[in-house]
Amino acid sequence: MITLQDVKKIAIIGGGSMGHGCAMVFAAAGYPVGLYSRRAETLQKAVEGMRSDLTFLAERGIGKLEDVETTMARITTTQDMAEATADADFVLECVAEDMALKQDTFQKLDQMCKPDAILATNTSVMSPTEIASTSAKRDRILGTHWWNPPFLIPLVEVVQTEETPQWVIDVTMELHKAIGKHPIHCKKDVPGFVANRLQHALWREALSIVERGIADPATVDESLKYGPGLRLPVLAPLENADMVGLDLTLSIHSYVLKYLEDSHEPSPLLREKVEKNELGFKTGGVGYQTWTPEEQKALRTRLLDYLTKAVREMKEAEGK
Ligand SMILES: NC(=O)c1ccc[n+]([C@@H]2O[C@H](COP(=O)([O-])OP(=O)(O)OC[C@H]3O[C@@H](n4cnc5c(N)ncnc54)[C@H](O)[C@@H]3O)[C@@H](O)[C@H]2O)c1
Repeated sequence: MITLQDVKKIAIIGGGSMGHGCAMVFAAAGYPVGLYSRRAETLQKAVEGMRSDLTFLAERGIGKLEDVETTMARITTTQDMAEATADADFVLECVAEDMALKQDTFQKLDQMCKPDAILATNTSVMSPTEIASTSAKRDRILGTHWWNPPFLIPLVEVVQTEETPQWVIDVTMELHKAIGKHPIHCKKDVPGFVANRLQHALWREALSIVERGIADPATVDESLKYGPGLRLPVLAPLENADMVGLDLTLSIHSYVLKYLEDSHEPSPLLREKVEKNELGFKTGGVGYQTWTPEEQKALRTRLLDYLTKAVREMKEAEGK
């Protein structure tokens, strides 16, 4: 058993978009990080990406330009997994979303890591229990689901398996608070954890409204952006229910729930669009709406501007 004070070194397995983003966050918070990837090109891209992201953030008031190289110096890249994990107290697996690959990675980590090192998987949707099932020391394995971009979105879902003891949850929660993230404890290993269950309940209704001809795609998005979406960062559903009264919530649900989408299959219109190769930005901009290259770029820029502003304000409010 270890405590937060025993966590001195972090190892990240996989140097893709999540792996290098998470490595950068741990290093910026002061932890030495061993970053493993199979390929030298991936590691080179990871180093370029981290330096560019740290500079991007510093130019927008999150961190300082003079700290970029100090943070980079805390990260050691390697193509040798044993070297990355040597002496690591917390290991985060960020390899591709493939069950056999993840199980194999944790079996290797079993052999390499210190007996009390905590081993986390950044899987988006797979069961951490199943990922851990072929490992010898399953009780130190859990899920930590970061959100993209990892250097901006504060949420990390800490997912407990049936075998995770409380100390592993406690240290993992404290560690993510210490690096400036906002960890939440998901007490059961269920598909979608907490936030993706909420997100995809909303997406299912959004797609259904379009399919039923109630509103067009742009209107569906506007109804959230100019309406309930605006207050979500301050007033989320359970707070909102308390504010308006549970009696009103019961009365609304008694009337409206039977009309809402409850299909357990993906939307037929979504399937049709995928069959026609209308995938959105990645296929020339035709998806639910049609996007010119300029509109695609503008949307990405608006998102990053919004997120950096929101995170900067959050850190200022927390006095960081
Ligand atoms: N991208 C996201 O939005 C997001 C968000 C949260 C969690 N995740 C999860 O994080 C994990 C990594 O996702 P990503 O977006 O960084 O993917 P990515 O494709 O950018 O990176 C995957 C990494 O896995 C490595 N890899 C692939 N096959 C391998 C093999 N056979 N052996 C060893 N390494 C191998 C690749 O070299 C690469 O470094 C996945 O489990 C994903 O579901 C992704």
